[in-house]
Amino acid sequence: MSALAGRRVVVSAGPTFEDIDPVRFLGNRSSGKMGFAIAAAATGLGAQVTLVAGPVALPTPAGVARIDVRSAAQMHDAVMATLPCDVYIGAAAVADYTPATIAPDKLKKQPGQGGLTLELVRTRDILADVAAHPRRPRLVVGFAAETRDVEAYARAKLAAKKLDLIAANRVGVDGSGFESDDNTLVVFDADGATTLGPASKADVATQLVDLIAARLP
Ligand code: C5P
Repeated sequence: MSALAGRRVVVSAGPTFEDIDPVRFLGNRSSGKMGFAIAAAATGLGAQVTLVAGPVALPTPAGVARIDVRSAAQMHDAVMATLPCDVYIGAAAVADYTPATIAPDKLKKQPGQGGLTLELVRTRDILADVAAHPRRPRLVVGFAAETRDVEAYARAKLAAKKLDLIAANRVGVDGSGFESDDNTLVVFDADGATTLGPASKADVATQLVDLIAARLP
């Protein structure tokens, strides 16, 4: 069955690393496994898939075109360059803030300085920019990883970022859900909610991609 034959699907996956100086960065616990599983599942349904991957050590799924990036700014540029496409799935854990400047040399401890304040600035929201783009994909799908109030935050993001679907998961305060091989997603649209899993990320990805394929005209 090739429900996505002839469709172009772009998936972002993994964390972003925001450099502080030549040896340090701000990152997060995203493993990239969910996004890579989605890319594989979409390819399995016949889509032409581009995977924009943050820094992760995962093998590229067969048949997927992969673009490796490091920072949120690089991911933004790489995703925008893939448009137009039919479906954008933003599964990456993109940094919300990045250092205002990258120190050219390694920051050194200063004698007598008990703390260090880093100035951070907001990154651009890739998902919102894709959804507002003149060449907007037919379907724009976001993710919401939350430690609490999952439904309320997910529904707020669905509306604020003008998404078609948002896939929400609860992550533990220790990041569990991010690094594991299993997942449960609750997918919200404007009307209702569908629970996928608990199951392996591969199975949940297949169910999510089926749900997306069914919504394409
Ligand atoms: O607002 P929040 O970061 O929780 O929203 C998560 C969703 O937004 C994910 O789909 C993530 O990929 C996307 N996002 C993005 N660009 C950002 C921040 C989040 O595309 N700068």
